[in-house]
Amino acid sequence: MTGRIPERFIDELLTRIDIVDVIQERVTLKKAGRDWSARCPFHDERSPSFTVSPAKQFYHCFGCGAHGSAIRFLMDYDRLEFPDAIEELAARAGLKVEYEGGQRDKPREDASDLYALLDAAATFYREQLARSAGARAYFEQRGLDVETLKRFNLGYAPNQWDALKTALGTTPQRLALLDKAGMLASGDRGGKYDRFRDRVMFPILDRRGRTIAFGGRIISSDRPDRVDQEADSPARTSDKSPGPKYLNSPETPLFHKGRELFGLWQARDANPKIARLLVVEGYMDVIALHQYGITQAVATLGTATTSDHAEILFRNSADVYFCFDGDRAGRQAAWRAVESVLPRMRDGRQAWFLFVPDGEDPDSLIRAEGVDGFEQRLRQATPLSEFFFAETGKDVNLATIDGKARLAERARPLIGQIPDGAFRDLMYTELERRSGARTVLPGGTAQVDIRATARLGGGRPAQRSLVRTAVALLVQSPALAAEIEPPWTFSELRQPGISLLVELIRLCRERPTLTTGALLEQFAGREEAVALNKLATLDLLVDAGQGRADFIGALAQLDVQTSQQRLDDLIARQLAGGLSDSERDELRQLMANKPAHRKR
Ligand code: UTP
Ligand code: MN
Repeated sequence: MTGRIPERFIDELLTRIDIVDVIQERVTLKKAGRDWSARCPFHDERSPSFTVSPAKQFYHCFGCGAHGSAIRFLMDYDRLEFPDAIEELAARAGLKVEYEGGQRDKPREDASDLYALLDAAATFYREQLARSAGARAYFEQRGLDVETLKRFNLGYAPNQWDALKTALGTTPQRLALLDKAGMLASGDRGGKYDRFRDRVMFPILDRRGRTIAFGGRIISSDRPDRVDQEADSPARTSDKSPGPKYLNSPETPLFHKGRELFGLWQARDANPKIARLLVVEGYMDVIALHQYGITQAVATLGTATTSDHAEILFRNSADVYFCFDGDRAGRQAAWRAVESVLPRMRDGRQAWFLFVPDGEDPDSLIRAEGVDGFEQRLRQATPLSEFFFAETGKDVNLATIDGKARLAERARPLIGQIPDGAFRDLMYTELERRSGARTVLPGGTAQVDIRATARLGGGRPAQRSLVRTAVALLVQSPALAAEIEPPWTFSELRQPGISLLVELIRLCRERPTLTTGALLEQFAGREEAVALNKLATLDLLVDAGQGRADFIGALAQLDVQTSQQRLDDLIARQLAGGLSDSERDELRQLMANKPAHRKR
């Protein structure tokens, strides 16, 4: 998605707007020294730990870790998708968003027609519900009240091959759109007819409340449970078979089931701030929970929880509960959810798992036990960490060394996917406790030490590595990159973080207008993002002049270390007996303590 708007445009945009203005329109900010502060809009707190830095064009919350540029703020606060956040900022800066290849205009027009058409389809189904005593009786028998029917805009698709087609497909263009929106199915000989027939209809809304797809349930009750919707081939529908219990719209330009959650729009509509989200399996579960007042329930649409889902869930709420069947399939589905959420478990986010008893689902439970009973179950839900170790420890005999090794082998790569932070540390510690195997934290970025410094609570930690210092200074003042000319001897140093440092220097030199916020935007979604964010907010206690001197000094030191590394390499190779003449010269020079500085 990001790729379609050129990075240069995003840089330009971020230099034209002021993050303080953007945030101030939504949150009351107070001046605090050079920065602005407020109570964090992303979590509940009494004293302000949310800071906006005009110099860095960047916000950060010391409480929950929320952070980013103006773009990220709009995405999280206004809950916009990336391109929409860009559009919004561009509009205020008076810029027209550039799309690579100029693709967005055309599909956009087309898309607005599709939205209008699906909206008309929802209205059509709602009107048909009013006319169908059978469908109304079905909802009544399922215990839905009129208010709920309205809130979810439920409807009914009549038992005809062409009811919708005739009502809305009045021109060849509209017919083509109906097809594109997934509302038609094709028969054996290519004829088109209504995909949904004799089903109660559940409109699926996007995050702005627009209808983008439908789910439809058969209303005859004598159906086998859980037939896969993919089994609905034209060959089967063209005979008298009513098809699967639930049928969903296929993937269309507007509908990607791996990214949508049924009920999310209603949840957001009912809750100004969503304290927790519940993920359940079915349409009827979401609807029943809402009707009983648990308005934070959403469902995936007949698919496993994807990592897109996980991100959307956590962007809406820091606490997410996953409800699954207690059977084998349910536990498998829960494990897949674990795999999807681990890479999204930034500090401050929490996930729990609730397994419902055999033969029940949230719909039946809330009716049988009421809100209190259901809330009681939520309180007893299993935390992610516990479920994680229960599953990874399955069939493993921890009394044996082999068993412990097995556990460590299974769990480590998964824990490694958790973003840098306290939760990951604790998971490693717990793994160590259970397996007895020490875990060497993965290198790459300078994450280990960053955390240690963060815990010291600012100040100037003695144990700060040179690479980290250089990266921190650069992230805080990207303009420093212009101070040092290539070639950079230190790029050959084998130390964690060096390749990141080199990448940053290149990037900042290439794009000299980058602010801290824009720079972090560039790394959004990358593994290094969390570490960089921490470095961006590290209190280095230096003024600009000192920062420049520290930066140049750190790089000079790294050059010295590179020479030392080269010396060690050459000595090792000499002992192994294989130096060329020129290498022997180089070694002699290095031994004479003349660092091969900035030349090679
Ligand atoms: P369930 O069969 O558990 O449905 O499927 P449910 O929600 O309890 O249905 P009711 O109570 O009988 O009405 C859970 C979810 O799996 C998907 C649907 O999204 C459904 O809500 N599903 C199920 C399908 O996509 N196709 C099917 O044939 C069945
Ligand atoms: Mn059910």
